[in-house]
Amino acid sequence: MRVLVAVASRHGGTQEIGSVIAGALRAAGHDVEELDPADVALIEPYEAVVLGSAVYNGRWLPDARELAQRAATPLSRRPVWLFSSGLATLPASASNSPIEMRDLTERLAARGHRKFAGRLDRSVLSFAERTIIAAARGRDGDYRDLDAVRAWGDAIAAELGSACEQPETGAAVPGRHRGDA
Ligand SMILES: Cc1cc2nc3c(=O)[nH]c(=O)nc-3n(C[C@H](O)[C@H](O)[C@H](O)COP(=O)(O)O)c2cc1C
Repeated sequence: MRVLVAVASRHGGTQEIGSVIAGALRAAGHDVEELDPADVALIEPYEAVVLGSAVYNGRWLPDARELAQRAATPLSRRPVWLFSSGLATLPASASNSPIEMRDLTERLAARGHRKFAGRLDRSVLSFAERTIIAAARGRDGDYRDLDAVRAWGDAIAAELGSACEQPETGAAVPGRHRGDA
């Protein structure tokens, strides 16, 4: 099956989560394309979509929100999974746009919205970001559980089924990767 994994990331941590999901889908034989949401021209070529974003100041990044908005109709007509990556832990995670994400999940008829812990490296942040993180008392660290991410990717692959398995011809055609020419 042709699957789009579109991920909005500012400092790369969420993009890597998307790549782990893409890897799990490819391992199951799917033809996966990884793109920045801003680079997604059309949803129609894809039979399923995983759309994710890092959470900044309680919201998805604008490119992910914008794709969800402009492509709401085609997204709602195919299997869609959403994920968010951030550092907020309970009860602060309740500040991560729960109403916005619930509305989005409903509007896109998404099969799920998963939250994953992210990572923080203050050395790569802008001055403004460092100020916000200092106020929130964010602590450096990589809190991502990539095994859990992979397991979620495996679960999506299982839900999509083995439609792309081609016993006569062997493996499915590999997908393009972010960064390919
Ligand atoms: C300025 C700033 C604001 C943030 N705001 C939130 C937030 O509101 N909720 C949250 O869960 N995480 C927040 N985070 C943590 C990021 O979501 C986390 O570092 C994430 O892994 C970054 O992903 P990226 O590397 O893909 O950009 C914030 C981080 C920064 C630097």
